[in-house]
Amino acid sequence: MNSVIERYLELWRITKTYDSPAGPVNVVQDFNLTIRQGEFVSLIGHSGCGKSTVLSMVAGLSDYSAGGIVLAGREISGPGPDRGVVFQSPSLLPWLTALENVTLGVRQVRREASRSAVDEIAVRSLTLVGLGDSLDQRPGELSQGMRQRVALARAFALDPKLLLLDEPFGMLDSLTRMELQQVLIDLWMSDRKTALMVTHDVDEALLLSDRIVMMTNGPEATVGGILEIPFARPRDRATLLDDPEFSRLKGDLLRFL
Ligand SMILES: Nc1ncnc2c1ncn2[C@@H]1O[C@H](COP(=O)(O)OP(=O)(O)O)[C@@H](O)[C@H]1O
Ligand SMILES: [Mg+2]
Repeated sequence: MNSVIERYLELWRITKTYDSPAGPVNVVQDFNLTIRQGEFVSLIGHSGCGKSTVLSMVAGLSDYSAGGIVLAGREISGPGPDRGVVFQSPSLLPWLTALENVTLGVRQVRREASRSAVDEIAVRSLTLVGLGDSLDQRPGELSQGMRQRVALARAFALDPKLLLLDEPFGMLDSLTRMELQQVLIDLWMSDRKTALMVTHDVDEALLLSDRIVMMTNGPEATVGGILEIPFARPRDRATLLDDPEFSRLKGDLLRFL
């Protein structure tokens, strides 16, 4: 068995400065976080504190002003297919089928693979998210929840080193949101991708995470505290809700927020 890399993702004194009418502002300052391989970490904090700013720097979509980010031994500079990103609204190409939307990315990371091998990877991923019967449907024919399933399948099919999710279920109604949380748990349990997810849903963070990072309010937002989430996996929502430890941790999070 391969040993787990303890410092798989490392954010070291990350600072993001934006210009404002009043001069430069450090929206995020001295943000430190180390994530081990295979860990699921959530980032929680008030709206506008800088969660998406942190995530987009890890995604390489936004430069950091100071500090450094290292993933699997390499400093991050710019976006790359080693990071699968899922946003609140999935940016699917409307003229492509669900399958084609997924194969598009897979082909870019598996250039040596045959067409049938690429299709096989995409079909497997779409089947895992419950879309095995909707491969040929276009985004316009899919519900919002199904489109977000495609986005999850697309991210996992890349077999990225790191999964980055920014409020992935924020636009969904509560029932669909719960379904998709389960889909994400199942996907993650199937190959334990290292994951960093932004959310402001306390229950969602508790259900999914190994650790929850609480961000202080901005500007100069940073890590305010980290909660270890001890629940055994696989986790079951109903069992968790009955666990007094769940209420205690939820209380801690709500008090912090
Ligand atoms: N391009 C930008 N220029 C200036 N300020 C920005 C820019 N993007 C985000 N901000 C500011 O940075 C802060 C953090 O934003 P964001 O990371 O989106 O917060 P969150 O995701 O926690 O809601 C906010 O005050 C926002 O106004
Ligand atoms: Mg945000």
